[in-house]
Amino acid sequence: MTQIFAHRGFSAAYAENTMSAFIAAEKAGANGLELDVQLTKDDEVVVIHDEKVDRTTSGNGYVKNLTFKEIRKFNANKKGMKKEPIPSLIEVLEWMQTNQLICNIELKNGIFPYEGMEDKVIQLIRKYDLSDRIIISSFNHYSIVLSYRMAPEIETAPLFNERMYMPWVYAQSIRAQGIHPKLTSITDEIIKGALENGIAVRPYTVNKEADMHRLFKINCTSIITDDPVTAIKIKKQY
Ligand code: G3P
Ligand code: CA
Repeated sequence: MTQIFAHRGFSAAYAENTMSAFIAAEKAGANGLELDVQLTKDDEVVVIHDEKVDRTTSGNGYVKNLTFKEIRKFNANKKGMKKEPIPSLIEVLEWMQTNQLICNIELKNGIFPYEGMEDKVIQLIRKYDLSDRIIISSFNHYSIVLSYRMAPEIETAPLFNERMYMPWVYAQSIRAQGIHPKLTSITDEIIKGALENGIAVRPYTVNKEADMHRLFKINCTSIITDDPVTAIKIKKQY
């Protein structure tokens, strides 16, 4: 059965990458979350998609130039009624102790290298004993290699945007157990090829109902969607 991962939480209805969006995804019945992490100036792992806080919060500046204390003052729920801070990864992992969700942590270390990010994230995953409920992904594939070297017990998956020939061979070569391709970069044949070779496939971002039907039909491992409620409704037909 295809699993449903809520992209940046239930981001179709809540402010992306906020605790509200994560809690709503869990309440809706999603199997997992996808979230993005960056490092603050004082090396705290925080949950935010962009390198800058400007688009999603009331603040401005680069995450890497702000301390955790500074960044927590900004409102990450600009459109909503109640003010919400940017979550720390610790906050999310603590909350995961109260549920059974799987969490895909995307390391946003493609634009800035964020020295030591893999180690910091892995230490936290181990501290909260969540190795078997986390998937580490990244567009930075060296980071995927490093994560596997540091923590072979944690599942990894490279992210990619472009069509790749037999991506499961590539995934196997870097010891990843899955691939997270852009939906438009894969065909049903590629998905089937990966699944037959034991590689999980979690395409992003699957928001159109027709695409959900197509992926449920071929029993794709998971879909990453902004709208877990629609996905769950459609999945009931399979
Ligand atoms: O992890 C899948 C997807 O989130 C990757 O793209 O830009 O939404 O982080 P982006
Ligand atoms: Ca992401």
